[in-house]
Order: sequence, then structure tokens, then C-alpha cells
Amino acid sequence: MDIAVIGSNMVDLIAYIDQMPKPGETREAPEFEMGCGGKGANQAVAAAKLGSRVMMVSKVGDDLFADATLANMKAHRIDTEYVTAVKGATSGVAPIFVDPASQNSILIIKGANAHLMPEDVDQASAKLKQCSLIIVQLEIPLPTVYKAIAFGNEHNIPVILNPAPASTNLDYSYVCRSDFFIPNETELEILTGLPVDGEENIAKAAMTLVERGVKNVIVTMGSRGAMLVTKETVTTLPSYEVNANDTTGAGDAFIGCFAHYYVQHHDVMEAMKKAMAFAALSVTKRGSQTSYPTEAEVTAFLEQQHVHA
Ligand code: RIB
Ligand code: NA
Repeated sequence: MDIAVIGSNMVDLIAYIDQMPKPGETREAPEFEMGCGGKGANQAVAAAKLGSRVMMVSKVGDDLFADATLANMKAHRIDTEYVTAVKGATSGVAPIFVDPASQNSILIIKGANAHLMPEDVDQASAKLKQCSLIIVQLEIPLPTVYKAIAFGNEHNIPVILNPAPASTNLDYSYVCRSDFFIPNETELEILTGLPVDGEENIAKAAMTLVERGVKNVIVTMGSRGAMLVTKETVTTLPSYEVNANDTTGAGDAFIGCFAHYYVQHHDVMEAMKKAMAFAALSVTKRGSQTSYPTEAEVTAFLEQQHVHA
């Protein structure tokens, strides 16, 4: 195993809307799409699509969405031995609204994901120990997130913590034990309580986390690129210009791709550059996982960029 994702899965119910209905109003939206999502599963699929051997520790519900989710993971050759069903629970679902400017608003109903417990990490420990990297997000109970970080530390396995959706009651003693902390700007603002307008402020806010012990903070900044902040450096990588269609799951695309290349070559900058291209391509297509490119598409895209440069 290369990568373990200890995290969520959801079924995304995406409505492409002209306008949000007001309370009491019924509006028609032009289009709808359903697909597998959830930050954990999205990141797992992104890495698996690039060729990483990925396992998930995750919970599905007791419904039709569970079958679709498991089938989708298997189709991406993700190890599902520790993806188990919760009797009587619904699978996680995410009603998503994408407006004409490709901005998305996401509601998550965690369902079975709320039942992923620290004991589930224990149960998977023999397999988890064989992984080179662990990824966690915040769509599962916080004690399970902490357990995953502690497990990684204990077994010398680097941990990526993606603090999404942002939570203000994160225990910093655990957060700071992650090797890569990857928030977007909004999450960084909520977490640190510091302003994130402009790169200088983003760097300052990220630096407070580095001072508290996080080795690498990577802030994803959408069309403004991504910033790496460590004790030694602040490096900003510009993003690639693309026609945005649907940004749902772009952050997850970045993280899954980053994880894949980091495990392959241990080169943070190279992994960030690839992740930026991968995420940019995902934004051009609808949906989250369904929009993730192949390695060949990423390579072709990067070659084109060189030609244009
Ligand atoms: O990050 C995007 C994801 O957030 C969606 O796939 C949705 O399921 C929510 O988890
Ligand atoms: Na997309």
C-alpha cells in the first residue's frame, strides 16, 4: 500500500442553478448530476487514478448509495477491506449548488461518516502500518482524526491533514503533529482567526502554525495558486489559467495528486506543481471525481504550458 485515506465518502447531488430559491419559493434549475464524492474518497480516487495503491478506512450507510460508493472505489482499485457499512445509517450525501460563475455551495449530511471511530483505525492497523502516507480530513469525528495522526506519528508514517470543512475546536496538539497541513484560504482564516487578505497575510497566518510545530503548511488559493510555508521558506506557485466549469472537489484533487507524487519522489515542489495542474484540469469539468484527469492528460497539459510559456 502507498496511501491510506482515513476519511469520508459522500454521494454528491449537484444542481447547476441560475439562482438559489428564496425561502418558500420553488425554482427550476437547468441541470443536475450525481456522482461519488466526499473529501476522503475524492482524495483517494485522485491518488489511485495516478497509479498509487490506496486503501480507505471509511463508513458507508445501509442504503443504495453504499453499493454505488463501494463499486466506485473498487472500480478505481481502492482497497475497501476497511470500508464497512453502518446498520440503519444513511450514506453521507452532499447536496451541492453550482452557480453560473462556477461557484459552489456545499451542504454535507455526514450519515455513516459520523460513525467512523478510533477503533476502526485500530482494526485496520496491520494494513495501515504498510502505508507510506496517511491522509485525513474533517468529515469524520475529531477523535478519529486525532487517532489517525497519532498512529502515523507512532509508526513514522507522514500524515497529511486537510482541515476541511474548517472547525474552530481543533486540538492544536494534534494538528501540529501533522507533516503536511493543507487548508484553503477560508479554512486558514477560520482556524487561525487571522486575516487572509493578500499573500503577506496568508503567509503570516500559515507561519503561526509552523511556529506551533506543523512541518509544512500548504495553502491552496484557487486561481491564485498555492503557497508552501515552512520554517525555512515561503514559496508561492502560480496557478494555471483554465476555463472554470465546476470547482467542486478541486482542493481534493490537489491533495490526492500531491500525495501520489510525494510518495513517489519525496519532492514537495514537484508534487505541488503536478497537483496544481491536476486540480486546474479538474476545474474544467463538471463534478468532483468524474472531473479528475489521468496522468497522460496532466503530462500533455504541462507540455502545452511549456509551449505557451
Ligand atoms: O470537497 C468537495 C467535497 O466536499 C464534495 O465531493 C462533497 O461530497 C463534500 O464532501
Ligand atoms: Na470539477
